[in-house]
Amino acid sequence: MLIGLLFGLPLALLAGASPGAESAPSALQLAQQQDCFSCHAIDHDVVGPAWLKIAQTYDGQPQAATILTFKVLNGGAGHWGSVPMPAHPKLSEADAKQIVKWILSLKGNLRKEPTTTYTYKDESGKPVTVDFKIFNDKHQVTDNVFSGYEKYDSYCYRCHGPDAVGGEYAPDLRKSIANGMNRRDFFIVAMEGRKDKGMPDWAGFFTADEMEQIYEYVKARQLGVIGPGRPRSAGD
Ligand code: HEC
Ligand code: HEC
Repeated sequence: MLIGLLFGLPLALLAGASPGAESAPSALQLAQQQDCFSCHAIDHDVVGPAWLKIAQTYDGQPQAATILTFKVLNGGAGHWGSVPMPAHPKLSEADAKQIVKWILSLKGNLRKEPTTTYTYKDESGKPVTVDFKIFNDKHQVTDNVFSGYEKYDSYCYRCHGPDAVGGEYAPDLRKSIANGMNRRDFFIVAMEGRKDKGMPDWAGFFTADEMEQIYEYVKARQLGVIGPGRPRSAGD
C-alpha cells in the first residue's frame, strides 16, 4: 500500500522527506529522541553493548522483546558487565517495545562468515565470486535480488540514480562498494543515514533482511553480473 502511494507521488514531494515522516516516528527516531545513542551504537560498544550484538545474543528467544522492554524501562546491570543501564521512567511501554523490536530486527545482518560461495560471469565473461546467490537454475535472479531491485527502484534511485549508476545528488553506490565499502558499512550508512549530507535514515522502515536485499542488488550491479533495467525473475 505504502509502495503504491509512493509511486504515485511527484518526486519533488518525496525529496528530502525521510521515510514515514508523516506517520508515527520510526523506532530509530524514538531512540534518537531518548538518550539511547549517548551509550549505544549500532555496530560497536559504547557504554552499553552494540545493538547488533544484542540482536545476535537474543536471536530465536521468544521472550526477548518482553524481557528487554522491561530492562529498558527499569534499567539494570549484570548482563553485559557491571555498568548499569539507567531506568527510563518517562518512556512509554509501547515506545520502548518498538525500539526493542527494531534492535532485535537487526540480527539478520550479523551473519556468520558465509561458507558457500557462488561464481558467476560478469559482462566481459570474467568469473566473479560472491557469498550470496544471484541466479536460480533458470538464470533468473533470486527473489532476494529481485526484491532488492524493486526496493532500490522505489526508494534509492531518485538520489542514487536509476540502475545504481549514481545521481546528481548522491554517489554511485557501485563505486562505493568497489572502493571497499563492505556489507556492514553499507548497512550502517543506509540504516543511520547521514542527515547533514542529505542521506535519509532507513532504520525502522527496512528490516536488516530487506537492507540485505538492496545490498545484494547493488553488489550484483557493481560486479557487472546483472545489467541495467528490470532483471528477469521467477515471476516473469
Ligand atoms: C547511560 C548509558 C545508557 C543509556 C542512556 C542507555 N543504555 Fe542501554 N545499556 C547500557 C548498559 C551499560 C547496558 C548493559 C547492561 C547490563 O550489563 O545488563 C545496556 C543494555 C541494553 C540492552 C540489553 C539489555 C540486556 O539485558 O541484555 C538493551 C536492549 C538496551 N540497553 C537498550 C537501550 C535503549 C532502547 C535505550 C534508550 C531508551 C538505552 N539502552 C539507553 C547503557 C545505557
Ligand atoms: C534524498 C536522497 C537520497 C536517497 C533517497 C537515498 N540516499 Fe543514500 N545517500 C544520499 C547522499 C546525498 C549520500 C552521500 C552522503 C555523504 O556525502 O556522505 C548518500 C550516501 C549513501 C551511502 C554511502 C555511500 C558512500 O560511498 O559513502 C549508502 C550506502 C547509501 N547512501 C545507501 C542508500 C540506500 C540503500 C538508499 C535507498 C534505500 C538510499 N541511499 C537513498 C542521498 C540519498
